[in-house]
Amino acid sequence: MLFLTIFTETMNKDRKILVTGGAGFIGSHTVVSLIESGFTPIIIDDFRNSEKFILDRINQITALHPIAYEFDCADQNKLREVFTEHEIGGIIHFAADKAVGESVKLPLKYYENNIQSLVSLLKIAIEFKVPDFVFSSSCTVYGEPDKVPVDENAPIGFTASPYGYTKQVCERICRDTAYAYSNLKITLLRYFNPIGAHPSGLIGELPLGVPNNLVPFVTQTAAGIRDQLTVFGNDYPTVDGTCVRDYIHVCDLADAHVAALNPSKEEGGVNIFNVGTGLGSSVLEVVRTFEKVNNLSVNHKIGERREGDAAAVFADNSKISSELGWKPKYTLSDALAHAWTWQKQLNEK
Ligand code: UD1
Repeated sequence: MLFLTIFTETMNKDRKILVTGGAGFIGSHTVVSLIESGFTPIIIDDFRNSEKFILDRINQITALHPIAYEFDCADQNKLREVFTEHEIGGIIHFAADKAVGESVKLPLKYYENNIQSLVSLLKIAIEFKVPDFVFSSSCTVYGEPDKVPVDENAPIGFTASPYGYTKQVCERICRDTAYAYSNLKITLLRYFNPIGAHPSGLIGELPLGVPNNLVPFVTQTAAGIRDQLTVFGNDYPTVDGTCVRDYIHVCDLADAHVAALNPSKEEGGVNIFNVGTGLGSSVLEVVRTFEKVNNLSVNHKIGERREGDAAAVFADNSKISSELGWKPKYTLSDALAHAWTWQKQLNEK
């Protein structure tokens, strides 16, 4: 095992991986995983939705200050400069707008930013003969699945938000590109619900304004930033009437990106993997687990259903497990403990 780790690290050494959105929530954790696996990450981030102090925190965790460029990754000319300076052996593309509600109000912002940046990067990847491209997709592409756990063969469903639609369109762009340019291998990772933070509490999620997602709302309520959490509906056909989701620790999700770069790849084409735990947890289970593991209480009430919520969505993760050897290491309790460690240090900041 030790030999394998050393061998893999030696193989990866000096393999430079471009990470767009590398200072963001999932991006920063992936940068840490890359460094720990012996890769050299090169970050591009315009910091519109992330903070520069995260780069120092990555340094504190890994003892390495990653190279970072500040610009919008849709900018072809600036991308070309980076690719001329560094021999890039792979691209992991996170940079995108991701607020579901905002995308309904500002659809063109989402169509422009999320689609343009992907097209720019794919063009550069082809120009510079980059062998590997990993795209940050979402289980939102399934819409409300007919059956759970949902596997990668489930049909693409109806997605209500422009944000969700950009993920569907971007997947299609990736498919068409992989088909036309067979030297480029593209991996689509469909994330379920990423939560948690690095166990050190040094990096984590930084929601802008009032969080839409459950776990940041829970941690902010526990911290006294929000008065009360509203549980959106308790009359769903689930274990306790509240919606069920598949909450995946962000460090496990980060490791999935590294796994997606590692397998032997003689051929191009598109590979699709669900990245989830395979376990469903209800909203009330999340709240109770958070309270138990952190020994505190979260003020909450039951409210109306939120429009567009599916009753239950969780992953069949057998494909990524058998083909890439990836398995989640952390439990829901771990993720909720780490999310709280992160929130507490933010309060003190
Ligand atoms: C949402 C997005 C999805 C995106 C993901 C990113 C929608 C329809 N989907 O997923 O596209 O990829 O975030 O993480 O918006 N909840 C409450 N109270 C709250 C907040 C949430 O009860 O204050 C419940 C929701 O009803 C849901 C669960 O918690 O059942 C998880 O919600 P959320 O964290 O917003 O994630 P999703 O809606 O699953």
